[in-house]
Amino acid sequence: MSDRVHIVEVGPRDGLQNEKTAVSVADRIAFVEALIGAGLTSVEVGAFVSPKAIPQMVGSAEVLRGVSHHTNCELPVLVPNERGYEASQAAGAKLIAVFAAASESFSRANINCSIAESIDRFKPVLARARADGVRVRGYISTVLGCPYEGEVKPQAVVDVAKVLWDLGCYEISLGDTIGVGTPLKARHLLRAVAGHVPMAKLAMHFHDTYGQALANLYAGMEEGCRVVDSAAGGLGGCPYAPGATGNVATEDVVYMLEGMGIVTGVDMAKLVAATNVVSGLIGRPPVSRVAAALNAKRAAK
Ligand code: HMG
Ligand code: MG
Repeated sequence: MSDRVHIVEVGPRDGLQNEKTAVSVADRIAFVEALIGAGLTSVEVGAFVSPKAIPQMVGSAEVLRGVSHHTNCELPVLVPNERGYEASQAAGAKLIAVFAAASESFSRANINCSIAESIDRFKPVLARARADGVRVRGYISTVLGCPYEGEVKPQAVVDVAKVLWDLGCYEISLGDTIGVGTPLKARHLLRAVAGHVPMAKLAMHFHDTYGQALANLYAGMEEGCRVVDSAAGGLGGCPYAPGATGNVATEDVVYMLEGMGIVTGVDMAKLVAATNVVSGLIGRPPVSRVAAALNAKRAAK
């Protein structure tokens, strides 16, 4: 467990995409800057999706342009189709993420097409990205359960993971979109997918709806997975996953890892400060237990 863990901060995208209060481009740029200032080296900055579907991500081009001077950081953006790819390239994206699902109903609700159709949409995106030297991450949603269909079999995840990997995604991020997974299921899933995609190329993207995300991450780490998606303050959710709450909080992940002797390079005080600013903007306190504890400690001084 003593080796490195790579954290992909998804707060400015997953964290804000479901908030009732839209956060301005200037404030999103400041949020990304604060996260990078706290030591995070991968920060997902936005999404080139339909403004009708996700109005919160309007202005992602400006956000990306506003932070792209951080050439030593990965700044991924979500791309659902060729139109999104073109917009991402006009904004200078060097790293994009396509997003599929392991369950048909969620695929339909989220991106208005079947899983097979979504793969057909991604094929030209991946081909163009390869030609343009753009790296592509592949997300799979509903890997441990679907809001519409319930249980999702690991084989369904394996099938999609294999396709995305064969198409050229450099990393596959496994999304427990509604946070229903438990540690043994997470472990079983990682083992199943790692039979087809190298464990080093898998990421854990666990929402914390049922309070299981840290335990699931730990189980995945025991299997050898070393990439964790998280959101500052525990922000997050997906409009097409009713009831689903935030991603596992970056503060909680950093606290756990550092406590295990794993150096993250993240400055906790700066991270909590970034979280507090965005919490003020959206008008609610951070969900992160660690941020809440540190804020309480500071207030008591
Ligand atoms: P569609 O209706 O099938 O596509 O939507 P369409 O081609 O028929 O276009 C419909 C409208 O969207 C048209 O506009 C297009 O111009 C426009 P209209 O004529 O109605 O004014 N459009 C676009 N606009 C901007 N950028 C584009 C684009 N493409 C079409 N790229 C589509 C398909 C995917 C576009 C739509 O369903 C969509 O944008 N969905 C949003 C999905 C989304 O962002 N979900 C949240 C992120 S995924 C997530 O959170 C899960 C994850 O965190 C992992 C996990 O936790 O599981 C990654
Ligand atoms: Mg998510």
